[in-house]
Amino acid sequence: MYIFQYLEIYLIRFEIGEFDMAAKLMHALQYNSYGCGAAGLKHVEVPVPIPKKDEVLLKLEATSINPVDWKIQKGILRPLLPPKFPFIPTTDVGGEVVEVGSNVKSFKAGDKVVAMLNPLSGGGFAEYAVAKESLTVPRPPEVSAAEAAGLLIAGLTAHQALVNPAEVKLDGTGPQKNILVTAASGGVGHYAVQLAKLGNTHVTATCGARNFDFVKSLGADEVIDYKTPEGAALKSPSGQKYDAVIHCTTGIPWSTFEPNLSANGKVIDLTPGPSAMWTYAVKKLTFSKKQLVPLLLIPKKENLELLVRLVKEGKLKTVIDSTHPLSKAEDAWSRSIDGHATGKIIVEP
Ligand SMILES: NC(=O)c1ccc[n+]([C@@H]2O[C@H](COP(=O)([O-])OP(=O)(O)OC[C@H]3O[C@@H](n4cnc5c(N)ncnc54)[C@H](OP(=O)(O)O)[C@@H]3O)[C@@H](O)[C@H]2O)c1
Repeated sequence: MYIFQYLEIYLIRFEIGEFDMAAKLMHALQYNSYGCGAAGLKHVEVPVPIPKKDEVLLKLEATSINPVDWKIQKGILRPLLPPKFPFIPTTDVGGEVVEVGSNVKSFKAGDKVVAMLNPLSGGGFAEYAVAKESLTVPRPPEVSAAEAAGLLIAGLTAHQALVNPAEVKLDGTGPQKNILVTAASGGVGHYAVQLAKLGNTHVTATCGARNFDFVKSLGADEVIDYKTPEGAALKSPSGQKYDAVIHCTTGIPWSTFEPNLSANGKVIDLTPGPSAMWTYAVKKLTFSKKQLVPLLLIPKKENLELLVRLVKEGKLKTVIDSTHPLSKAEDAWSRSIDGHATGKIIVEP
C-alpha cells in the first residue's frame, strides 16, 4: 500500500517539476501502532517531504526527545495524536533550510535554523522534515543544532511556566520570589532553574544526590534529594515557603505541597493527572489563595527567539545527556522512557 502512496507523491512532484527532491528517499524511524516502546520503532526509507507554501524543508542536524513523544506512542493522547499510522516521532529540530514554500519570506536555502514541527505530523526522526515558517527561528553560529533542538518543548515550557503563572521577570526587575523546581536535573527542570535565576529569585531544586553538583552549577540556591524524607516532603533547608513550584515530576500529592507554599503560592503542574485536575477545580471554586495551575505549552516564536538569544549570549545552556545517531535512535528512545536523563537526549541523522 505504501508503494502506491509513494508513487502518487512522485507523480505529483513530477507534474509540478520537483525532479531533484522527488528522486530522493530518506532514512527515517517510524512506528505503526500504539505501544511497544523502542521495539516499535522501525527503520524505513520514505520520500523526502514536500514543503507547503508556508513551510520550509529542513535537512536535519539534530532532534531532541521529550517524554510526550513516547507518551504519544503509548496512546495517552489517542485519538488526537498521532492522527494516523505510520508516524515519525519528535518535533524539536535543528537543521539547515534546503527549500522554501512559495509564501515563505524570512528564510532561504542555506539558513541555519531551529524549528518546532507540527505535532500532528511529527517528523524529527528523519533526515529531512518540513516546518512552518511561523515556528522556525534563525540559529546563530554560536548555537549548535543540538543545543537549539533541546530548547523547543523543554525550554519553552520552562519559560512559559516561569513568566506566566509564576510571574517571574527574567530581566531581574520583579519582586523577589521563592521558586521550587522539582526534577531539576531533567529536560524542563534544568532550563527552569537557569531561567528562574535570571530573575529576582531564590531557587530550591529537587533532584537525586548524584545530580547535586550539576543542579547547583545551574544556579540553584539549595538542592534537596528527592529520595530522602526531607526531600520527599519538599522542605527547603533554609525554611523558604514557595511562591511558585515548577513541578516537573509526578506523584506528589497536594497535601505535600500545601504546607510548603507561601500565602499566595502556586503549583504549576506540567503533568496534571486526575487528582491534580480535581485540586485545580476545588481551589478555583473555593477562591483559595493557594492554587494548582495545570500548564499546557503554547509555543510562541518570540519566546523561542529569546531562548536562542540567551544561549548565544551564554546566559542559558542546553545540557546534553547523551547523543545518539539516527541509526541507533531506539537507544535514545529507551533512555527517555527510563526517566533518568540529565538534561536533553539528542538524536543526530
Ligand atoms: N504540560 C506541558 O506542556 C509539558 C511540556 C514539557 C514537559 N512536560 C512534562 O513534564 C515532565 C518533565 O519533562 P522532562 O522533559 O523534564 O522529563 P525528563 O527529562 O525525562 O526528566 C528526567 C529527570 O527527572 C528526574 N526525576 C525523576 N523523578 C524525580 C523525582 N520524583 N524527583 C526529582 N527528580 C526526579 C530524574 O532524575 P534521576 O535520574 O535522579 O531520577 C531525571 O534527571 C514530563 O512528565 C513531561 O511529559 C509537560
